Amino acid sequence: MYRELEIPNIREFAVYTKNGGYDALKKALGQTRKQVIDETKASNLRGRGGAGFPAGVKWSFIDQNNPVNYVAVNADESETGTFKDRQILENNPHQVIEGALICAYAIKAKAVYFYLRGEFWDVGHALEKHVADARSAGLFGPKSKLKDAEGKSFEVDVFVHLGAGAYICGEETALLNSLEGKLGQPRVRPPFPANKGGGLYGEPTVVNNVETLANVPWIINNGAEEYKKIGVGTSTGTKVFCVSGHVKRPGNYELPFGITFRELLYEYAGGPLDDSKSLKAILPSGGSGPIIRVTDEVLDTPLTYDDLRKFNSILGSASVIVMDDSVDVVWVASKITKFFKHESCGKCTPCREGTYWLDKVLDRILSGEGKPSDVDLIMNVAKNMQPTTLCALGEFAANPIIWTINTFPEEFKAWVDGSKQPVEEKVAVRPARGRGTAAPAPAGD
Ligand SMILES: Cc1cc2nc3c(=O)[nH]c(=O)nc-3n(C[C@H](O)[C@H](O)[C@H](O)COP(=O)(O)O)c2cc1C
Ligand code: SF4
Repeated sequence: MYRELEIPNIREFAVYTKNGGYDALKKALGQTRKQVIDETKASNLRGRGGAGFPAGVKWSFIDQNNPVNYVAVNADESETGTFKDRQILENNPHQVIEGALICAYAIKAKAVYFYLRGEFWDVGHALEKHVADARSAGLFGPKSKLKDAEGKSFEVDVFVHLGAGAYICGEETALLNSLEGKLGQPRVRPPFPANKGGGLYGEPTVVNNVETLANVPWIINNGAEEYKKIGVGTSTGTKVFCVSGHVKRPGNYELPFGITFRELLYEYAGGPLDDSKSLKAILPSGGSGPIIRVTDEVLDTPLTYDDLRKFNSILGSASVIVMDDSVDVVWVASKITKFFKHESCGKCTPCREGTYWLDKVLDRILSGEGKPSDVDLIMNVAKNMQPTTLCALGEFAANPIIWTINTFPEEFKAWVDGSKQPVEEKVAVRPARGRGTAAPAPAGD
């Protein structure tokens, strides 16, 4: 993803092609679709959007005899603490366009849709220009000069769509609804997006994350065997780790799978922001996954899809949020809950009501009015949400609560037995936009 970024203006079509850009697409078009899918499968490229499902296997589910198939590129990037897809699209857009076109060829798609969250309007408008440049050069679209292995013109077209900006629209079926102009709410599955009836306009569709597709040109150019030499075990290739929080050098780090938390946080991210403090907790997959207490064992853990399981945690989209010992984890649990309550689409009761109750009881605890039974109550609500919600957002809302209580029981106890009391939160005063007057930010913002 980032190896090309040192080439000035690699985002421009002329520079990208001068440096070997779109060679992988041409190579793929010279192969059969099965060969392209098999190579991607063999590389064991896993989805970088969160679930880690192997991309080649997902592509192989598509019925190539179906007259119309689609590719949807997930650039919603709504996960808390994730800020990689935007950077990839801003700096190396053609690599993603090329990856998406290779996928489109492999699954015999008619069109590729880029779905960007609404706040990415500047990225979206720039992307439209980059797509237009590649189209005018005759790489794809109605006037394509490229031919596939059967001698047919490569007429797949590419479109850019901006959503309105909702976390749930990153969920693949809500994304498809939103693309269709419907309310961005998840669909009941089956049918799955790859199957007839489940994808865009009811047609089989591959939904892949930006970072996933950005890996594809390298795999086609260099082969699956070379790709597998990077990373470890079933976590092949590199991963962009988004590091934020209490470290000296927050940012995106592209590193091979298998580096440890210690290397990532101390070597690359510079260690604790304040040297007088120590690192206390990590959210390895943003707000949607469990919290981990920082120990030597954790710091020496290789960052792979499998290794984080031993802490009942997940890698997700690798949004690593770091907290030092100044942070109150009950406050963190409350902030995460407020986020999910706000972003719950409201379609199913356990999530709509559950996030509301979790927020209400956590507010009570943090106001100093909590009772010991409140901790059991929120645990109970969270556990009841886990198996009953329509989509994974409900689980994402429940997991951090359950694991924060399990990992830091003493902090919840201190709040409910009266040994910890609220201090008045200092709210930053920001000027109101465009009015020229100063207005306080909403409480709790
Ligand atoms: C609530 C929710 C939000 C999600 N948000 C995103 C997102 O912003 N970007 C993304 O790529 N995947 C997101 N996902 C995962 C997608 O549903 C889907 O698994 C992914 O786009 C598949 O691409 P991949 O296989 O390349 O990872 C989200 C899932 C859920 C349940
Ligand atoms: S779990 Fe939440 S976000 Fe998902 S469908 Fe139900 S209400 Fe909507």
